[in-house]
Amino acid sequence: MDKTFISFLIISIALGVLGDSSYYSSFYGLVLNSTQVAEYTANSTLANCTILVEACNSTEGRRIDGTCNNLNHPSYGGTRTPYYRILSASYYKPSKSEFEPRHAVGGGKLSVSRKVRTTIYSEGRVDDENLSSIINHLAVFFATDITNTRDTTNYVTWRPYCCKEAGKTDYACTPNKVPADDYVHRFSGIHCLNMTRPLTFQTSGCLANTTTPLRIVDATPILDLSPIYGNTVEPARRTNSSGQLVTVTANNRTFPDTSTLKLLLGINFVGIILFWNNHNFIASELATVNPCWTDDQLFETAREINIAYGTQMFYYELMATLMGKDNLINDGIILNGTGFRDVYNSSVLPQIALEYPVVLRWMHSLQDGELRMYYTNGTYKSTFPIVDLTSNTDFLKENSTMDYVTQGFIRQPTGNSKDYIADPDIVQRGLGGLQKSNDIMTNDLAKNRYFGFQGYISYRNYCFGDNITSFDNLTDIIDEERITQLKSLYANVADVDLLAGIWVERKKADSYVPPTFYCIVAEQLKRSLVSDRHWYERSTRPNAFTAAQLAEIRKATAARMLCDIGAGITEVQPRAFELPGSDNVIVSCDEIPALNYTMWQDSTCT
Ligand SMILES: *[C@@H]1O[C@H](CO)[C@@H](O)[C@H](O)[C@H]1NC(C)=O
Ligand SMILES: *[C@@H]1O[C@H](CO)[C@@H](O)[C@H](O)[C@H]1NC(C)=O
Ligand SMILES: *[C@@H]1O[C@H](CO)[C@@H](O)[C@H](O)[C@H]1NC(C)=O
Ligand SMILES: *[C@@H]1O[C@H](CO)[C@@H](O)[C@H](O)[C@H]1NC(C)=O
Ligand SMILES: *[C@@H]1O[C@H](CO)[C@@H](O)[C@H](O)[C@H]1NC(C)=O
Ligand SMILES: *[C@@H]1O[C@H](CO)[C@@H](O)[C@H](O)[C@H]1NC(C)=O
Ligand SMILES: *[C@@H]1O[C@H](CO)[C@@H](O)[C@H](O)[C@H]1NC(C)=O
Ligand SMILES: *[C@@H]1O[C@H](CO)[C@@H](O)[C@H](O)[C@H]1NC(C)=O
Ligand SMILES: *[C@@H]1O[C@H](CO)[C@@H](O)[C@H](O)[C@H]1NC(C)=O
Ligand SMILES: *[C@@H]1O[C@H](CO)[C@@H](O)[C@H](O)[C@H]1NC(C)=O
Ligand SMILES: *[C@@H]1O[C@H](CO)[C@@H](O)[C@H](O)[C@H]1NC(C)=O
Ligand SMILES: *[C@@H]1O[C@H](CO)[C@@H](O)[C@H](O)[C@H]1NC(C)=O
Repeated sequence: MDKTFISFLIISIALGVLGDSSYYSSFYGLVLNSTQVAEYTANSTLANCTILVEACNSTEGRRIDGTCNNLNHPSYGGTRTPYYRILSASYYKPSKSEFEPRHAVGGGKLSVSRKVRTTIYSEGRVDDENLSSIINHLAVFFATDITNTRDTTNYVTWRPYCCKEAGKTDYACTPNKVPADDYVHRFSGIHCLNMTRPLTFQTSGCLANTTTPLRIVDATPILDLSPIYGNTVEPARRTNSSGQLVTVTANNRTFPDTSTLKLLLGINFVGIILFWNNHNFIASELATVNPCWTDDQLFETAREINIAYGTQMFYYELMATLMGKDNLINDGIILNGTGFRDVYNSSVLPQIALEYPVVLRWMHSLQDGELRMYYTNGTYKSTFPIVDLTSNTDFLKENSTMDYVTQGFIRQPTGNSKDYIADPDIVQRGLGGLQKSNDIMTNDLAKNRYFGFQGYISYRNYCFGDNITSFDNLTDIIDEERITQLKSLYANVADVDLLAGIWVERKKADSYVPPTFYCIVAEQLKRSLVSDRHWYERSTRPNAFTAAQLAEIRKATAARMLCDIGAGITEVQPRAFELPGSDNVIVSCDEIPALNYTMWQDSTCT
């Protein structure tokens, strides 16, 4: 850069504008003037505590960086914008700037998280009767669309000492104590599991550390396939021709290029590989129909369709399977029918509830620790530990592994949804080789506490209007022997943690999920739908689908996606989130409804 340009930049930044862009405070969402921008620059928080928003244009489509979704609040929808809380925070505060987990009503600390987890969940492997493993894989994918893993990087890479002496004086270190009589670790000599406090607006220097901690994440808080397209524009993901994303080919199968892109597949590999290849499939279908389209036209339209495809599949198939289709219809989360739906409300901001990603973690109880592989004829072949994928996914590229693994998506059951058994890999070596031992579900509960959530009964009251004042009040919603366990762990029913309550609740009727999980997830699904100006079912958004195009999007299913791009898939059961069976027979892909891309034909092309 030459000097004139640098001085131009400095002057522009000093004015608080860059071209037609303005800086906003990521937390407050307010535009910043030059004095304020200079203050953030001076204390080195400009990159983390502000967001540069290019001037909004109401006719423009969905931005990769999520900004300008809400025209009145342009920064919302962007990265590092605030989560909201369904219920206000509840912390124990030894001093003005310390925020520790809530204490018991009768005083003192709650039972350690590992004790609660090991009491409620034993360890073992029991298959579910109905659900197939791809439902869990894609649930993880849709969760990482709106949250991220920097909290794990913090204790694995940035602070690799939380269980050591140095950890005792680092406020960020919050390791999990392992009780001396722990069923597993009394034999291993491990008394401490590494963990850190969530990264917050406070730890990033955006807010005073005397204010209530609020989690900060890089992910955009909207369903926009950010694991595929990034949270900010990343040109390196594109080939710049035919609208395609960059891939590598190994053994005649296509994968996202992780060697040159800063893309980590890890345990999220399934969703990333599938939706990455789905984008390229859609782009090539569009190119066939519209030979005159430019790279940008193909890319943007393929992205638009891929996001709609994912959202349709997530709401109408994945969540409908898990939470009950009729339940979602009755609660206005999915339509009973087809056609447009427009419930956009600009006064609702595109945000994620802090409770949502934590509650979703209940699904770790369904997580199987092994990745089972099958031949295409359905014969079982071998297994690979899923947790070891956190550090290495290269084996997927060897031989026909991806084909065998893909068969596993539709043939391997999830962990049983009705029992109280957790997979040993998930709760003993949850980060594979990155840690000696890691208990993902203990971390889930500990995070629930460090996020400062009120007790389970407060959420019951919020969701159902219950007034629970004693353990006996739980008999209608929790089995007797589980109540006995809660009594052994918590002195007062008001002490019970939100996630612990969800762990033991009896399931909601016609669903696989606990009622309080349902309530909090449903609330988020509703908000995401109502607050997203670019929601795919709207007829009045920029670049809206035509009625005929939306009718094609309605055909999006996991089965169709696997038929289009699944490695070696030529047949599949129609309801791929459920195991094959007598009412869900494996059929040829010819029988799975396919999207007709000629609906996107551009008359100026022919
Ligand atoms: C910038 O905004 C702050 C806070 O609103 C205000 O006090 C200050 O006067 C403004 N400075 C300029 C140069 O407009
Ligand atoms: C707004 O976006 C539309 C569609 O992308 C474009 O045609 C138009 O030129 C843009 N207007 C401005 C002022 O940038
Ligand atoms: C809060 O910030 C003050 C001033 O920067 C610092 O001295 C103190 O240690 C911080 N407290 C915590 C808990 O981080
Ligand atoms: C600031 O942002 C950068 C880039 O995202 C990140 O690497 C760094 O950890 C952040 N710093 C803090 C204190 O959050
Ligand atoms: C940096 O400056 C901004 C703007 O004045 C302020 O809001 C923020 O708290 C400051 N952060 C630190 C760590 O001083
Ligand atoms: C590579 O895969 C394609 C599509 O699955 C298939 O048509 C082709 O025959 C394969 N080629 C080889 C050499 O296996
Ligand atoms: C959905 O619509 C069908 C056909 O109109 C109807 O039979 C069914 O009861 C509806 N389902 C719900 C949950 O309303
Ligand atoms: C399925 O295919 C594998 C590998 O080709 C073969 O070893 C096995 O015998 C086949 N099983 C059946 C039931 O045909
Ligand atoms: C691929 O095949 C080679 C040769 O048979 C074998 O050594 C290797 O272990 C295989 N890789 C995987 C991941 O199965
Ligand atoms: C905690 O982290 C340290 C440093 O990375 C590591 O040596 C230790 O094994 C970890 N503890 C466990 C239980 O994994
Ligand atoms: C719970 O208590 C509130 C206020 O005391 C009352 O209005 C409500 O009806 C009670 N709910 C139930 C289910 O008893
Ligand atoms: C809850 O328990 C209290 C005390 O045992 C009792 O007075 C109350 O009636 C119970 N409420 C319900 C809804 O069962």
